[in-house]
Amino acid sequence: MPRLDPHSYADDAQPSTVRMNLQLWVDVLRSVVRGEITLHLDRPADGTLDLDTRDLAIEAVTSASGAPLRFELDAPDLILGRRLRVFLDDDQVRIVYRTAPHASALQWLSPAQTAGQQHPFVFTQCQAIHARSVLPCQDTPRIRARFSAELNVPRELTAVMAAAHGPRQYAGDDRAVYQFDMPQPIPSYLFAFAVGDLASIEVGPRSKVYAEPSVVEAAAWEFADIDPLLQRAEALFGPYPWDRFDVLVMPPSFPYGGMENPRLTFVTPALLAGDRSLVSVVAHELAHSWTGNLVTNASMEHFWLNEGFTVYAERRLVEAQYGEPTRVLQAAVGRADLELDIARLSEVDPRLTQLRVDLTERDPDEVFSTVPYEKGYLFLLRLEENVGRDRFDEMLRRYIERFRFTSITTDDLLDFLRVEFPDVIDGVDLAPWLDGPGLPNDAPSVRSDRLNLVIDLAHRWRDGHRPPFEVLDGFGPDEWQAFLGTLPPTLPADECEWFEDRFGLSTSDNAELRVGWLTVAARSNYGPAFDAVESTLMNTGRMKYLRPLYNALVHAGPIGKARASKIFAAAEQRYHPVARSLAKRIVQ
Ligand code: BES
Ligand code: ZN
Repeated sequence: MPRLDPHSYADDAQPSTVRMNLQLWVDVLRSVVRGEITLHLDRPADGTLDLDTRDLAIEAVTSASGAPLRFELDAPDLILGRRLRVFLDDDQVRIVYRTAPHASALQWLSPAQTAGQQHPFVFTQCQAIHARSVLPCQDTPRIRARFSAELNVPRELTAVMAAAHGPRQYAGDDRAVYQFDMPQPIPSYLFAFAVGDLASIEVGPRSKVYAEPSVVEAAAWEFADIDPLLQRAEALFGPYPWDRFDVLVMPPSFPYGGMENPRLTFVTPALLAGDRSLVSVVAHELAHSWTGNLVTNASMEHFWLNEGFTVYAERRLVEAQYGEPTRVLQAAVGRADLELDIARLSEVDPRLTQLRVDLTERDPDEVFSTVPYEKGYLFLLRLEENVGRDRFDEMLRRYIERFRFTSITTDDLLDFLRVEFPDVIDGVDLAPWLDGPGLPNDAPSVRSDRLNLVIDLAHRWRDGHRPPFEVLDGFGPDEWQAFLGTLPPTLPADECEWFEDRFGLSTSDNAELRVGWLTVAARSNYGPAFDAVESTLMNTGRMKYLRPLYNALVHAGPIGKARASKIFAAAEQRYHPVARSLAKRIVQ
């Protein structure tokens, strides 16, 4: 039974799913989805078909005609969930099931957890290996399937999916039924839906922004550059293959900055800074339309192919749209984050700082870091510098063309480069990048005069020289972020007070600046910042913010640590399951 993905029971010797037909009945009172799924295989099974499930109650397994099929549900594995083995010789199987209220891909929000406070909200987050908690499937990115889906939801709610939207009908007095279709084959981790009180505003010929009604106008304003970014992306990477690019602004508990669900990117409301400064996250998710959704990592061991290429592509979009200085500042922020993660992971297991990693018996959520993103970015920048931008761009377009709608490993990339673009890797020592720890010596440096000035101010403050107000007053959001990311780990209390009094960053609407500052202030054990830390931890579920803030409290001493536990106890019910376990690992 060959298994090429350490995170799936899917067996490479068995047929692959090519199409799924789904009917989902969303029960918001019980926090349960009742599902009926038919999997269509690329050939008849040879007696057995192994599927992934997690916390699913399997009610019936039948052939297409309804004849019961024998099946076995194995004991749960902590990381993989339970293998569902179906005994069949046909090329179709139908499964009736229900999800568990604590399904790892789903978060059920009470009205109080939404902006409007009137209606419940539920959404999926399937990457990396949570699709199996919403539908029984071959939950590996090696396998791609088309699907159609019908979502039956309370009539007062709107259902959206990462798929083409079909008609809506009403069923009885209180239910609505939405039809969706995904005509292109996608890996299971890109399966996504959300149900809630949603409105939308058109922001371009191919794009709408969806959000709760009270948020949707701010969202449409913040993301006004979607269409120009889409056009720039097509110029760089080829025609946009997914028809529409809509964005859904999630409730605050959404655990990521953004998720590249095809046709409908999900983003955190923390991007609504009111100054359009965090649009690079949308550029990132848009770039995944090529690097990730079209050319897909074959497993989480090659996650850097998704994220490294996408950060590279994101920064090309940012540079084209907002200019080189902005790109350099953002790359510098990424580099600072990378250095922190490399230092942290070197203590845990230095092999986690490689681009290509062995994840046997490792939970992908637990090893998540900026390494695949920022080390991947620097590696690609190194290759770009090796051959020049024109040649690199030619390679990138050919890479996308060659591997579109397939799932690849690092070796597939290397074989492609050796055959078609040997000059791109000529003279580059690949092993330290791909299979070595930390940052190789030939990592490109990210520098500009403006960045040097910002870094210099941060360093001088460390040596006791306060940065002059006039200069800080002239900082844009990216300069602020780079500055905050370069500050010493702690500052004396009177310095914290001086800075907070003047700039009030602990209540900034820009979550990046607020969290960047609160992290330093909390680590410095600066008491007056603790209330702002608490309110941020109570009001966002984005893991990028939870991680540094909980860590800062825990490392600030006994008072901070006690506060962290108290906040976690009050906030944990608000967090998405993956965010809850992250925070729990830190405070315990
Ligand atoms: N695909 C990721 C989010 C993700 C990664 C979900 C792994 C589950 C497992 C998404 O594209 C992403 O990278 N989001 C970043 C955005 C940033 C790098 C611009 C985030 O959430 O912060
Ligand atoms: Zn990404």
